[in-house]
Amino acid sequence: MIKRREFLKATGVGGAAVFAGADPLSGPAFGQDVKTQAYAAKDYAKLLGTPGFSDALLKNHLTLYQGYVTNTNKVLEALALMLFSGRTAAAEFAELRRRLGWEFDGMRLHELYFENLGGKGGMDAGGKLAKKIREDFGGVEAWQMDFKAVGAMRGIGWAVLYQDPATGRLIDFWINEHDGGHPAGCRPILVMDVFEHAYMIDYGLKKANYIEAFFKAVDWTAAEARLA
Ligand SMILES: [Fe+2]
Repeated sequence: MIKRREFLKATGVGGAAVFAGADPLSGPAFGQDVKTQAYAAKDYAKLLGTPGFSDALLKNHLTLYQGYVTNTNKVLEALALMLFSGRTAAAEFAELRRRLGWEFDGMRLHELYFENLGGKGGMDAGGKLAKKIREDFGGVEAWQMDFKAVGAMRGIGWAVLYQDPATGRLIDFWINEHDGGHPAGCRPILVMDVFEHAYMIDYGLKKANYIEAFFKAVDWTAAEARLA
């Protein structure tokens, strides 16, 4: 018999507030005193003032990010409630399960993106990231051409430099929306948002100009620290 506490711990769902009011989980099978933690939005206010990014654009983007955190929590909570109220065969359960990847990846990719922004200087040419890029792409310039070309692709999504832990190899990936195309088990090294909200306030349709501004604002130390 599953304990509610064990289930919530395993799924990372949580917060007693989820179960406030009418509680479908209050039956004897599930025990009491649940204390689990919802995701909390991180504070990236230090990015305001980043050259190439207006405060209006960044504030708008940070608000959108906070929405992904809120919605990730809401979806997890709703799924837990449906499980414990025996509604897993409902169409809504399946749709929410599909939705979870979109909300969760929207949350996590924004965190990775904001955390590799705000740098003040180029990549350390003698550092381990530059060395690895040279090994896998033949040169830093060649990699940048590839990564920028991925970012310039039509559509909304993300350009991500991933490291494959099976071989250590670096590969650029296009991620469709937030959840399509992630290489399983790979480590994100550099993440660039190419949804229109990431640049249109400042650059209109000139996505290439945004990509150039992004490269000038990358925190290469943060990116390099992600490398295995
Ligand atoms: Fe975004």
